[in-house]
Amino acid sequence: MKVLVVGGGGREHALVWKIGQSPKVSEIYCAPGNAGISEQATLVPIQANDLNSLLSFALKEKIDLTVVGPEEPLTRGIVDLFESKGLSIFGASQKAAELEGSKTFAKEMMKKYHLPTASYGVFEDRQRAIDYIQKQGAPIVVKADGLAAGKGVILCKTVEEAIQSVDQMMVEKIFGEAGKRVVIEEYLVGEEASYLAFTDGKVILPLASSQDHKAVFDGDEGPNTGGMGAYSPAPVVTDEVNQRIVEKVLRPIIQGMAEEGKPYKGVIYAGLMIHNGHPKVLEFNARFGDPETQPVLMRMKGDLIPILEACITGNLSRCKLEWENKASVCVVMASRGYPGAYQKGKVIEGLKEVARMEDVFVFHAGTALSDGKIMTNGGRVLGVTGLGMNIPKAIERAYEAVQKISWDGVHFRKDIGKKALCWL
Ligand code: AMP
Ligand code: GLY
Repeated sequence: MKVLVVGGGGREHALVWKIGQSPKVSEIYCAPGNAGISEQATLVPIQANDLNSLLSFALKEKIDLTVVGPEEPLTRGIVDLFESKGLSIFGASQKAAELEGSKTFAKEMMKKYHLPTASYGVFEDRQRAIDYIQKQGAPIVVKADGLAAGKGVILCKTVEEAIQSVDQMMVEKIFGEAGKRVVIEEYLVGEEASYLAFTDGKVILPLASSQDHKAVFDGDEGPNTGGMGAYSPAPVVTDEVNQRIVEKVLRPIIQGMAEEGKPYKGVIYAGLMIHNGHPKVLEFNARFGDPETQPVLMRMKGDLIPILEACITGNLSRCKLEWENKASVCVVMASRGYPGAYQKGKVIEGLKEVARMEDVFVFHAGTALSDGKIMTNGGRVLGVTGLGMNIPKAIERAYEAVQKISWDGVHFRKDIGKKALCWL
């Protein structure tokens, strides 16, 4: 079969890498892809948000299955568009993707279907938002309602900072339309985990747990990024926590979405805060996580294609997932300046040497080929992923590889996976 993967980051490289291993797949395309993906797939020069061009391409090439990586094409309705033309596509429908596209909708769903989450208020009026902040006190969290590339959340230590954040979103409009409406939320404590599950709208098939590292610097310091590294499994998700997540978070949200006439098919991502063994939902994403997908797929055994197909056709009860009894750690290597304005066009050294290492795979994110050389072309550039018998071994493996790779201005966190060590 012919498969098209939409997107061009580390997550899409991991999807292409895993899908390419399926004996069912004869050809794999990626739009727009990146330099690393070009080694496993034919790149298609169409941006992930150009839905009509993607549709024309899929029709012309008779693509049997399209798999969508990023949130924007989902919230813009790529799944609905492809399905209306009879094409098979893996991802959440536009209505289902609202769970990620609107934090207000997500919070309302959580309230209505009794999911554990932070208490909150939603405001379109600046003064009311400020009154609420003053009543609740700090610390408190201010979030832009719409999509803001993972940057629309401000954790405020003081009331003043919270008011300033409201002004940045509602008056200065630093996130544009996404900040017209704000969600103000109770500040939760605990340890975070990312929990992904496949679903066909009824059956829930969880993936292995993982943990992201959102802040740019070691020790969770500095501004939030798209994610500076991840590992799997996350020991904070014990068997008991795992069961609670499925029963108290996933089942009610999937049933709730069906009851609302917004059936959810695809992969659902719950960002969780776990405190004393009890999960609370921070957010939902309507897609695979990035970088979580890299370490998670590295551990997944078997063929991904039948699972993706079963989500679409409603046959997920026949599927099961198996995992390597090993741990994986993905260290993101980023460009100088990221998550702010960053540099591009730097030559990346050391990739050939790392390609010879066992139990390591370098997933590319912001890379491009120029004159036969692999250059940096984005904020997050590489996701260097190592596999080991346990988390300490996987950390060692990933950083051994990281040490061999360099470019002018590279930066990365040195403590990916460290939180897991407290559980050993
Ligand atoms: P979100 O995009 O909603 O997941 O928020 C991004 C990050 O901000 C999360 O991964 C958390 O680290 C943090 N965060 C979000 N909401 C809260 C909250 N209510 N309490 C504490 N931290 C939060
Ligand atoms: N790593 C966080 C995300 O994919 O949203």
